[in-house]
Amino acid sequence: METTAIAFIDGRYLPVAEANLNVMTHALNYGTGVFEGIRGYWNAAEEQLFLFRAREHFVRLHESARIMAIALPYSVDDLCQISLEIVRRSAYRQDIYLRPIAYKSGLGIGVGTAGVADGFLLFATPMGNYVDTERGLRCCVSSWRRTSDNAIPPRAKVTGGYANAALAKYEAATNGYDEAIMLAENGVVAEGSAENLFMVRRGSLITPPISDNVLEGITRATLMELARTELGIPVVERTIQRTELYTADEVFLCGTGAQVAGIVEVDRRPVGVGRIGPVTAALQSRYFDLVHGVSRDRAPWRLAVYEPARV
Ligand SMILES: Cc1ncc(COP(=O)(O)O)c(C=O)c1O
Repeated sequence: METTAIAFIDGRYLPVAEANLNVMTHALNYGTGVFEGIRGYWNAAEEQLFLFRAREHFVRLHESARIMAIALPYSVDDLCQISLEIVRRSAYRQDIYLRPIAYKSGLGIGVGTAGVADGFLLFATPMGNYVDTERGLRCCVSSWRRTSDNAIPPRAKVTGGYANAALAKYEAATNGYDEAIMLAENGVVAEGSAENLFMVRRGSLITPPISDNVLEGITRATLMELARTELGIPVVERTIQRTELYTADEVFLCGTGAQVAGIVEVDRRPVGVGRIGPVTAALQSRYFDLVHGVSRDRAPWRLAVYEPARV
């Protein structure tokens, strides 16, 4: 069955090709939007598509909107319903990615946002891997610093803030690396260009605290919970210094896009023995089972798109 991808914009469901913005839109000119990225995983055996932790993403979208003073007239429940409607109307039966954006939609020149109109759109697109999750990533520490809370807050997913990530990713890719690890302005490890970072060192799973200029990642929270409750490994939120990446047993990145991706090299030094380590592998395998609904536990984390298949 041939279907058309449907987007939601200005309160209407439209084919993606017709869901266009005016060239004078404030958010396009000044990066004044806030967004989310939510994955949907197709479970072929159950003929079901699961949106992973959609509610948590929409709670964070509301927080980002508050920071940027963008009005978002839809509740978390409304946003879940709009997501379900889009995916159903588009009839996706594959892994997808949802992208909601709340943005300054007024037309005109001038960076100020007070009194400028707000808009909201949401679209979905098929999506496979964002970074390789099997081979192990080769990363560099970026020469670009992560923006700080008093510049462009990394806690908020602000469209304009991703120029910072784009600079780091461009530098990494053109220097032959898979990903960039970004330090905060004060030189401590923050996160990947669009992923949170964990390391395993001396038997603990360690990640920078949310006050070290990182996004409060939903995958980060998921993995901390799994590590604490299932792996029995101590989870520590503390500042990480750059050289700890060189002496760690394991380092990995995580995020909705990246999922759980082991790092095998940082700045041309092998991480641990230069292969994806056991803690990373265990968390990755559990994560993939959970997001696909292969493991049936933690059901509140999965929002099923379709009616359960008839048997
Ligand atoms: C800068 C940044 N850090 C971390 C993450 C991971 O966050 P999450 O796990 O909520 O997708 C993302 C991706 O959304 C990101 O853009």
